[in-house]
Amino acid sequence: MSNNLFSNIQLTGQELSNRMVMAPLTRNRAPEGIANALMAEYYGQRASAGLIITEGTQISQQAVGYPATAGIYNQEQIEGWKLTTNAVHEKGGSIFAQLWHCGRVSHPDFHGGELPVAPSAIQPAGDAFTYEGLKPFVKPRALDTSEIPAIIEQYRHAAVCAVEAGFDGVEIHAANGYLIDQFIRDGSNQRTDAYGGSLENRSRLLMEIVTAVGNEIGFDKTGVRLSPINTFNDISDSDPQSTFNFVTTNLASLGLAYLHIVEVDMTGASSSNVDMQQIRDRFDGLYIGNGGYDKPRGNSSIAENRADLVAFGIPFLANPDLPARFQADAPLNEADQSTFYGGDEHGYTDYPFLEIA
Ligand code: PHB
Repeated sequence: MSNNLFSNIQLTGQELSNRMVMAPLTRNRAPEGIANALMAEYYGQRASAGLIITEGTQISQQAVGYPATAGIYNQEQIEGWKLTTNAVHEKGGSIFAQLWHCGRVSHPDFHGGELPVAPSAIQPAGDAFTYEGLKPFVKPRALDTSEIPAIIEQYRHAAVCAVEAGFDGVEIHAANGYLIDQFIRDGSNQRTDAYGGSLENRSRLLMEIVTAVGNEIGFDKTGVRLSPINTFNDISDSDPQSTFNFVTTNLASLGLAYLHIVEVDMTGASSSNVDMQQIRDRFDGLYIGNGGYDKPRGNSSIAENRADLVAFGIPFLANPDLPARFQADAPLNEADQSTFYGGDEHGYTDYPFLEIA
């Protein structure tokens, strides 16, 4: 019999009970920058996912780009995240921390008036979410080559903190127009040093981060997320198929936990034509597909070997028991967009579980 969303699978030496992944989702409910008890309740409610990937968690103060997001670089933050990892593990779940640096997708308000950093001083179109509402993005400061080793070190350190906090592994967020993606794609990277220009140079930051993190905590505990056709955060590339084929080829045989691909353009704008199968075929390990999946498409992707696991975002946000609902073909709760970002338990931990008759 072929596999489907409910087949078990080995990840990092652990048996996951299903192949449904809770996708990383920004929820802005850490007003002090520290993961709290409410967040632990939210993640614990969703522990029936085969794997949970947390919301983006910043690796340093410089990495911050949104209000009320949690960090993973000091002891207080580690203690805060322990509430979440304990809640998920107590219910038999697995959870990776997503390591995040927003780069230019930020605002001086988060940095004591200093400019956000980026590969090049190119201002993205659009607005930053600040504590005072939307403010236009600014022209970021291009990182000096000499500053890059410290950023790689921050990823390594954050990965150590994540393991200490009890996470089963980390996902390096190299998608959706944030810092690493800004280096990968030529629309945001015009550097002339070893981190810009050729494909090899544009993917160097990612490779150095993956190497530093993998050597520290194990490549089998390290996943990577990419988004080849996303234009979210005003990101662009002149030849995304070649760019992401190249990146994937370099990641292919490192023994990573997984490659997690955002297969859609989150803006809904007409997207570049990238054949995700070419990316899947280049990668030796587990492939997580993400973007607009439902139960039938998730099952068929796995059965037809186009993905090993499937990540669901908004469906998991609104349905803490999504695997049980899929299994029972039960109706899904509707997500309330007005409570996605910030606020309290409303639209966060109060989505109902299925009533078992
Ligand atoms: C968001 O806040 O909408 C967001 C954050 C991180 C992502 C994607 C979307 O990777």
